[in-house]
Amino acid sequence: MITLRELNLCMVNILKECPFVENPLAETRLVLKSLLNKTQTSFLAMSPETQIDLKIEQAAIDAVNARKSGRSMAAILGFRDFYDLRFEVDDNVLIPRPETEFLVEYVLNLDCAEKKMRVLDVGAGSGTICVTVAKHRPNWQIDALEVSDKAMNILKRNIELNNVCVNALNQDFFDFKPAHSYDLILSNPPYIPTKDVLNLLSRHDADDPTLALDGGDDGLIFYRELKKFAVEYLLPGGLLIMEHGFDQKKAMHDIFDNSPLYVLQTLKDYAGHDRISIVVKK
Ligand SMILES: C[S@@+](CC[C@H](N)C(=O)[O-])C[C@H]1O[C@@H](n2cnc3c(N)ncnc32)[C@H](O)[C@@H]1O
Repeated sequence: MITLRELNLCMVNILKECPFVENPLAETRLVLKSLLNKTQTSFLAMSPETQIDLKIEQAAIDAVNARKSGRSMAAILGFRDFYDLRFEVDDNVLIPRPETEFLVEYVLNLDCAEKKMRVLDVGAGSGTICVTVAKHRPNWQIDALEVSDKAMNILKRNIELNNVCVNALNQDFFDFKPAHSYDLILSNPPYIPTKDVLNLLSRHDADDPTLALDGGDDGLIFYRELKKFAVEYLLPGGLLIMEHGFDQKKAMHDIFDNSPLYVLQTLKDYAGHDRISIVVKK
């Protein structure tokens, strides 16, 4: 049997050979912590001389080799932590991004926690937005739209795992005609211009499905549809809160700044990029 110290060293050495892995030690610890089923604290408290079971050793080496071949760590481990929850992920959903937490945080800071809000999440994917909001606002009525059957399976798993109430609808947003209007429409839609999608997917840290990324020729097709939809189905005074590309703030104004909608504010992400726009219905 191998010790924790030896396995750790072996994994770090494999990851050091990958130019796209910025922090081999951090990724090694993430894998070991997950395989050994430890919290951060209990993992760090383990003796380096702990003997590691052969099955765990093999799984750990397989994980770093998969990483070396270009898969994302979240897809290898099968989960990603987002906000204060854990989400199951696989190759059929966008791996949750930290910048999307700004959207969720804005929603949870709105002064309407006690109201019974009707909320729609467009392009729910793994459920990061709708599930996290539902966990913190159990009195809100939340619909989540997702066109991909495979992503829908993951969304349903995450609804169940996090024990929340979300009405998951396996439908195409472009054909969606709800029976009622909404107080809040939330979306992190596909927003990469088609010509840039292949380029992005060739990077070694991105193995998201094309359907989650491709926003049409100029990357803005979903925002135009969200505008049409909000004109019809967002209640007066309601908010449309969307994530977008770092260079799409002007496009948000061009699309939304005409009656009855306007861009109230654009929030920046951790890197200081324009990332979340909030649109109001007059
Ligand atoms: C950028 S991902 C966002 C996923 C998740 N909301 C998040 O923030 O992690 C966009 C999602 O929209 C879904 N999608 C793409 N086209 C759609 C459509 N026409 N109708 C509904 N969902 C769609 C994709 O399958 C994908 O899950």
